[in-house]
Amino acid sequence: MRRPSLPTLTALIAALAAIGISALVVWNQISTTAPLSGGGAVINFAPSTEVGGPFELINGEGETVTEKAFLGGYSLVYFGYTYCPDVCPTELSNIVAAMDAMDPALAEKITPFFITIDPERDTPEVVKDYAAAFHPRMIGLTGDIDAIRDIAQSYRVYFAKAGEGEDYLMDHSGYVYLIGPDGDLATMFRPNADAPSMGGVLETFVSKSG
Ligand code: NI
Repeated sequence: MRRPSLPTLTALIAALAAIGISALVVWNQISTTAPLSGGGAVINFAPSTEVGGPFELINGEGETVTEKAFLGGYSLVYFGYTYCPDVCPTELSNIVAAMDAMDPALAEKITPFFITIDPERDTPEVVKDYAAAFHPRMIGLTGDIDAIRDIAQSYRVYFAKAGEGEDYLMDHSGYVYLIGPDGDLATMFRPNADAPSMGGVLETFVSKSG
């Protein structure tokens, strides 16, 4: 490679700085630590923050599922992988515990979703069985790697392979997203939020819309 000229380098550094700053702005919007209700279980985010969007994934029956699956009811969405040794099972159990802490009539209005960030190992059948083991109505979704990258990007989920060979692990972020009946993000929960507090926040949202 030719040695870059000084103006080229300056432009490059400026571009990288701009990317870094915009990433920081977004991160601050979704990770502000100011607690709302629910004992700090909820993450405050600026309404301008774009989270979510169109996607095309595959359910346990091999059928295509798009963002339209979120319309008309509340969806509680978690991104993880079935080989996860501890964090994912703990978080999914926590989500179910929060739903169990709710008035059953309100909990019924929420559909929990598990979306894999490890489609290489998490086939439709694998995500289906895994999700069903946590909650009878939990829907497991997978897809090709590009589709998973797209949805992870739109939900600002970080994931990366860690390690080599068949027993690799995945690093990933662990926020829980509540999507409203309009398909837009209603709120986000921190990883390992207190289940009864989370249930209380969920009840507040779900009871708002009849
Ligand atoms: Ni995990």
